Amino acid sequence: MASTLFTSALRRALRATARTLLALPLALLLCLGFSGQATAAQWSTDQLTVPAGPDGSTVTFTEQEIKSGRKLFNTSCGECHAGGITKTNQNVGLDPETLALATPSRDNLEALVDYIKDPTSYDGEYSIADLHPSMRSSDIFVKMRDLDDEDLRLMAGYILVAPKVQGIQWGGGKIYF
Ligand code: HEC
Repeated sequence: MASTLFTSALRRALRATARTLLALPLALLLCLGFSGQATAAQWSTDQLTVPAGPDGSTVTFTEQEIKSGRKLFNTSCGECHAGGITKTNQNVGLDPETLALATPSRDNLEALVDYIKDPTSYDGEYSIADLHPSMRSSDIFVKMRDLDDEDLRLMAGYILVAPKVQGIQWGGGKIYF
């Protein structure tokens, strides 16, 4: 009788231990998962700082602004520019090198906002607003009607921050193949 009592007590204890042993790694995993996520979403001030204009001045975005910019960009531009490439013209992607070599250079906030308002050919010679979505051609490109100046600023910010976060993946790493 005493031995049966002892056995059942032992069983209970073992079961409790097993439960704890199972729950512990689970709790650990959850902790790691959450902290991992927090780290992944934490961009440095350096990554969030981009050229404001051609004069070398800079502007620092908040992470929230860049996330809004990403959303706007994916909705309005993603069909052709997802991941920073240009589907129908691989030579004119949104990677920093290609933006820098345009005339005038487009690797700054002001130039990108100008581009979205009235885009020009790569050599800057003529407007391509009839071919490329823009504020000037929002009569043809109706999606552009949903955007205001602040939206343009956030999208341009995202285009400049993305390669600093994603590296050469943004724009397809074209220069490497
Ligand atoms: C229908 C497809 C399409 C959509 C939608 C589109 N683009 Fe483009 N984009 C292009 C093409 C094609 C080019 C290359 C134009 C050229 O030949 O100069 C281009 C070029 C650009 C460039 C110049 C890149 C460089 O290296 O000089 C920028 C900046 C740009 N797009 C931004 C945007 C933004 C911002 C949006 C969303 C508001 C957008 N585009 C929507 C097709 C598109």
